[in-house]
Amino acid sequence: MPRNKTFKSAAEELIPPRPTLSSLKSAAANCQACDLWKTGTQTVFGEGARRVKVMFVGEQPGNEEDLSGRPFVGPAGRLLDDALEAAGIDRKQTYVTNVVKHFKWEPRGKRRIHKKPNSLEIGACRPWLEAEIALIKPDVIVALGATAAQSLLGPQFRVTKQRGEFIPSTLAPYVMATVHPSSILRAPDDETRHLESRRFIDDLKKLAKVIK
Ligand code: URA
Ligand code: SF4
Repeated sequence: MPRNKTFKSAAEELIPPRPTLSSLKSAAANCQACDLWKTGTQTVFGEGARRVKVMFVGEQPGNEEDLSGRPFVGPAGRLLDDALEAAGIDRKQTYVTNVVKHFKWEPRGKRRIHKKPNSLEIGACRPWLEAEIALIKPDVIVALGATAAQSLLGPQFRVTKQRGEFIPSTLAPYVMATVHPSSILRAPDDETRHLESRRFIDDLKKLAKVIK
């Protein structure tokens, strides 16, 4: 059947007919559906096994992810790993990805500072995330932070009010949003950081229960 190109974004056009995780990843490596490919080092696609129960969706790769090409390998990823362990969730049971697959940044001195993706970039990148969800069909999707939460659950969603709750959604049997691990790293003092880590682990424990 001829596909109606009018309603397809550039990313959708790249998705192979019967994708696998690796063919998706290769296709995404050539994506130019928004301008972020120009300044990012490479597409940072999701990572994990094909059959996992839990999918974590972050905002976008950070500096280390951009350089290594792998999601959640920097400071936020290390915090996530530790929290998963504390909640008794095997990292091998998870797939990690992002709403936007290229690092958006602005220079500050010699450093590259994270810049929030806008709705055009989020929309342009969405076919990749949808394809990942369709392929993996996770039992649980966890949005990390407001960008992922609002992209998956709607612009009215407030992480501050609804974190850690399972929200009815057609995306997966269980969908939850919680804070982004980077926000914990930015806590103003040790005590707050400790407290926020505990709350984050408590949220992860709720999903540990439903996958057991
Ligand atoms: N923050 C994210 O949202 N995603 C990553 O992959 C790394 C840091
Ligand atoms: Fe494509 Fe997403 Fe990268 Fe934009 S951010 S170029 S849509 S992979």
